[in-house]
Amino acid sequence: RDNLAVWELAEMLVASETEIIKNLFFKGIAANITQTLDMETARLVAEDLGVEVEIPEKKSGAEKTEMLDNEDLENLQSRPPVVTIMGHVDHGKTSLLDSIRQTKVAEGEAGGITQHTGAYHVDVEHEGETKQVVFLDTPGHEAFTAMRARGAKVTDIAVLVVAADDGVQPQTQEAISHAKAAGVPIVVAINKIDKEGSNPDRVKQELTEHGLVPEEWGGETPMVGVSAITGENLDELLEMISLVAELEELSANPDRLARGTVIEANLDRARGPVATLLVQNGTLRLGDVIVAGPCFGKIRAMIDDRGQRVEAASPSFAVEILGLSEVPSAGDEFDVYADERQARAIAEERSEQMRTSRLQRAANSRRVTLSGVS
Ligand code: GTP
Ligand code: MG
Repeated sequence: RDNLAVWELAEMLVASETEIIKNLFFKGIAANITQTLDMETARLVAEDLGVEVEIPEKKSGAEKTEMLDNEDLENLQSRPPVVTIMGHVDHGKTSLLDSIRQTKVAEGEAGGITQHTGAYHVDVEHEGETKQVVFLDTPGHEAFTAMRARGAKVTDIAVLVVAADDGVQPQTQEAISHAKAAGVPIVVAINKIDKEGSNPDRVKQELTEHGLVPEEWGGETPMVGVSAITGENLDELLEMISLVAELEELSANPDRLARGTVIEANLDRARGPVATLLVQNGTLRLGDVIVAGPCFGKIRAMIDDRGQRVEAASPSFAVEILGLSEVPSAGDEFDVYADERQARAIAEERSEQMRTSRLQRAANSRRVTLSGVS
């Protein structure tokens, strides 16, 4: 990536946006929070604020899998892409997901009932082969902001939904910045092409102004005109996602203890803590001992996105698990341990640390209040 929005820089530096805008002002740059800065300018601002900046090199295919160790490199196998759908309000994100799910997931399922697990996978026919694509069910922005703010990276590809009758809007721009900040390739779905007055070419033009140039105009961004209502071109969109995934050479090591990220979690009255885990490396198995954030557990049941009980989940798959002692937070990392005692100790230490820093924060905020009064 070669640029960064002001708000992103603020997020990274844990600084206020105003502080950054002020700094830019003294450099003779009038900026607002969505303004993009080149890396050199971002570096200068960061250094003024006392942060040293390292600009990372481009990652290779294997490095795109989070949580990969050196020993995994000898045992890599390709894994499905994990896709997040993003876009402006009402541009059709939910409809598109539903439509894909209906045509692809519900097919051949008992009763066609799809359990809500925060993620689901679909089969895509691509060049005579069946490939899988995993969609995160969480609204794109929340998935990105909540998780990225905590350093978790779960998405391999972003599908940016832009309504053909409405074009690029503020949250479209925000989504572009998010995906760029995360270094994630973008596939554009120009939605609602069935609608009277829709103008896909105008949308492409607008996207070009925001740095996304369609492939057919010599750029690098695949763009597919679709309709979530009629289902037109959904297969083409899925194929495009598979194609991008192939170029990314996504891989992981299925022959090790699982690691990954909590996608969502809640307390179920009957079942206790329930968490949806995205496996990012290794294979997760029934009976595994895990630590998720500060929570300990032994997996008592695993349920896939079709509501079926399963015994194992390989890289890029998401499953709902039962057996945690407490409810972790979305964005928490999880790890499987061979040694139950060690796992318990780690979980306890983490929750102790969290308790201490909570108390510390509470104490700090009280000090601020008192000095404000005096
Ligand atoms: P938020 O979750 O509120 O951000 O919206 P969203 O992006 O999920 O949009 P949603 O799927 O709720 O769709 C918004 C409206 O657009 C609904 O009334 C849909 O029926 C309509 N809509 C979505 N896709 C299409 C489409 O392809 N064609 C037409 N004609 N209408 C669509
Ligand atoms: Mg929606």
